[in-house]
Amino acid sequence: MNFDLKTLGVDGAVTEKCDLLVLLVSESFVPGSDALSDLVTQALKAKDFDAKPGKHLQMYQPQGVAARRLVLAGIGHGDARSVRQAMASIAAAFKQATVKRAVVCFASSAAASAVAAAVQGAAQASYVYTTTKPKAEARTLARVVIGVADVNAVIDAFTHSTAVVAGVEYAREWGNRPANHATPSLLAGAAKALTKHPRIQCKVMGPPEVSRLGMGAFMAVAQGSHEPLRLIELRYNGGAKTQAPVVLVGKGITFDTGGISIKPASEMDEMKFDMCGAASVLGVFRALAELQPAINVVGLIPACENMPDGHAIKPGDVVTSMSGQTIEILNTDAEGRLVLCDALTYAARFKPSAVLDIATLTGACVIALGGVRTGMFASDDALANALMVAGEASDDLCWRMPLDEDYAEGLKTNFADMANVAGRPGGAISAAKFLQKFVEGVPWAHLDIAGTAWKGGAAKGATGRPVGLLVHYLLGMAAASDAAAPKARQRKAPARGA
Ligand code: BES
Ligand code: MN
Ligand code: ZN
Repeated sequence: MNFDLKTLGVDGAVTEKCDLLVLLVSESFVPGSDALSDLVTQALKAKDFDAKPGKHLQMYQPQGVAARRLVLAGIGHGDARSVRQAMASIAAAFKQATVKRAVVCFASSAAASAVAAAVQGAAQASYVYTTTKPKAEARTLARVVIGVADVNAVIDAFTHSTAVVAGVEYAREWGNRPANHATPSLLAGAAKALTKHPRIQCKVMGPPEVSRLGMGAFMAVAQGSHEPLRLIELRYNGGAKTQAPVVLVGKGITFDTGGISIKPASEMDEMKFDMCGAASVLGVFRALAELQPAINVVGLIPACENMPDGHAIKPGDVVTSMSGQTIEILNTDAEGRLVLCDALTYAARFKPSAVLDIATLTGACVIALGGVRTGMFASDDALANALMVAGEASDDLCWRMPLDEDYAEGLKTNFADMANVAGRPGGAISAAKFLQKFVEGVPWAHLDIAGTAWKGGAAKGATGRPVGLLVHYLLGMAAASDAAAPKARQRKAPARGA
């Protein structure tokens, strides 16, 4: 799907030939002297339409308007939240098979965040997963034109949001694929496919390399499965070679049965989503490919299945992690932290400026925060604040959780340096404390997306979160390093002064 941004007022929208014209009308709408303005004025007067968010009115081939379908949608005060609400309320219009080209026009001046909301709303409304359901009515919407009065004021937000859409959709696609269509090897293929974009490289390691690295915890999880594990290393090199990268580590359990500590049967299918952390890393790289910012990013994905088998790890088994620390596996269902801990140790090789891991790690986090906010744990206040701000700005919310040392008490055991589980209370936090033992001397954050990465029920499917948050955070880093290195920029652009 393609997006375009165009200077367009209500009078211009009148002559836009398209299958669907959406006119976003705010409460401060001032009518002009065109056919559309007349329509809106009449509808408002007759109380058939209202500019409150969520209110809308649909029309077919209205007189004097070039569009075949017209939808008037209220956006209240024109804020991002109201635009999101408006776009969600008219989602069905974007799903129509005959709607290939849509124009979404702001009837009054549009805030940058409102434009982003319109872009994301149109994508969200028309997304269809078809990979294993070929008869599903695929997305027919091919082009969406966003019409605003002042293109320059919103161009950055527009570019950013269309890139995030590409990233979110890549993450959703891989998140949604069932485990037999998203094995560790296929995930590696999805990462490799990204190298067709400039500045992206990918290295994939299998059991021999991972064994040589001494990743005993990661290998322990994989040993119960017939699918060979993969350690995926993505690199995006947009910054100077001397610039320390941000490392993103995504949990890539392509299916989590729980292993010998097996999970109950009900809703176990949803454990195909246990690689949504990995999918979010792929999604971020997809967005970076679009945006080409001046930063360096490394993506690490430890990918394997967690299966019960004659070779599977057993409760009580002790394994040695890459860090040298030994781990008593008291519950084989706490496998995410086992694959992540070795990837976190490996992350230190890149001498990163920050390490972020993203994982569908604990059911406890779902109980704590539900599906609204991602659980965010950070060793560093500045990093925590940056993630919090990025979450708010991208409407991909998170909430900081504690990391007091007392929460690590339960991980103590007589048989190893640590156990892989503590008690049930505070389960999301003790999981984070476990991970923290594998990060040293670098700002680190852990995002527990167990509640936010997918939806259950009738709307079952991956959400693509937290791609929006992560891209926002990374672009903030790009802006900061830009500001810190004005000299380098001047050197690159000598023509301007000449
Ligand atoms: N992938 C699950 C976490 C999960 C469960 C996410 C349900 C979303 C919904 C993880 O591997 C897991 O099984 N965690 C256990 C940890 C426990 C054994 C300490 C959990 O949360 O029950
Ligand atoms: Mn598990
Ligand atoms: Zn899991």
